[in-house]
Amino acid sequence: MHCFRKVTDDLYWVGANDHRLALFENIHPISRGVSYNSYLLLDKKTVLFDTVDWSVCRQFLENVQGVLNGRTLDYLVINHMEPDHGASIEEILIRYPKVKIISTEKSFLIMHQFGFKIDDNIEQVVEGDTKSFGKHVVTFVAAPMVHWPEAMVTFDTTNGVLFAADAFGSFGALDGKLFNDEVDFKRDWIDEARRYYTNIVGKYGPHVQLLLKKASTIDIKMICPLHGPVWRSDLGYFLDKYDRQL
Ligand SMILES: [Fe+2]
Ligand SMILES: [Fe+2]
Repeated sequence: MHCFRKVTDDLYWVGANDHRLALFENIHPISRGVSYNSYLLLDKKTVLFDTVDWSVCRQFLENVQGVLNGRTLDYLVINHMEPDHGASIEEILIRYPKVKIISTEKSFLIMHQFGFKIDDNIEQVVEGDTKSFGKHVVTFVAAPMVHWPEAMVTFDTTNGVLFAADAFGSFGALDGKLFNDEVDFKRDWIDEARRYYTNIVGKYGPHVQLLLKKASTIDIKMICPLHGPVWRSDLGYFLDKYDRQL
């Protein structure tokens, strides 16, 4: 059964939660689980932003199918190729063989190394490239070493949504609540967000700072990370934590 949520008028969260995993990356305890976020845009073209970990792939595929509601998938934007987000690419290709995968040269190199058969589906982009899906026009921003070499983020210039890859995320399963203003973040989430930052991206502080510098030049209205709540209000609070590494 599908389980998805509306993020904006035409953007849907189609990710899934994992409560079974004890250690994230076999190192970091996640007693409150973790979410693998993926987002599906229904424009003139249909666009999926990243996939999910293999452990929740089945739920994810049902969610994608549910939101598409009979439409096919035209594009898959891959911002980050770590297996907790890239593992389900082949399953998407099996179901939507004509999908064009939009990503960086390094990402495609990693996909080939993973053995994915993607040669007919590649659409390579570099920083500053833009792509129109109908109403929505996105631009791609390189985010090298946040926290893998191939990483990029995608900014939707039409509605100010930033698909932020593994930046601005948090440990903890979402369990129905999706947005930062649906939870008491300062009470219930900040510790998990700190643990996430410290263990996952904090080591790459200078690279995160570089991304923040780039982010400060665009008018971000919403942050869609690959783990944890979507930020649609009080963005300054969270960005400031990243800025000052708090
Ligand atoms: Fe990652
Ligand atoms: Fe991740």
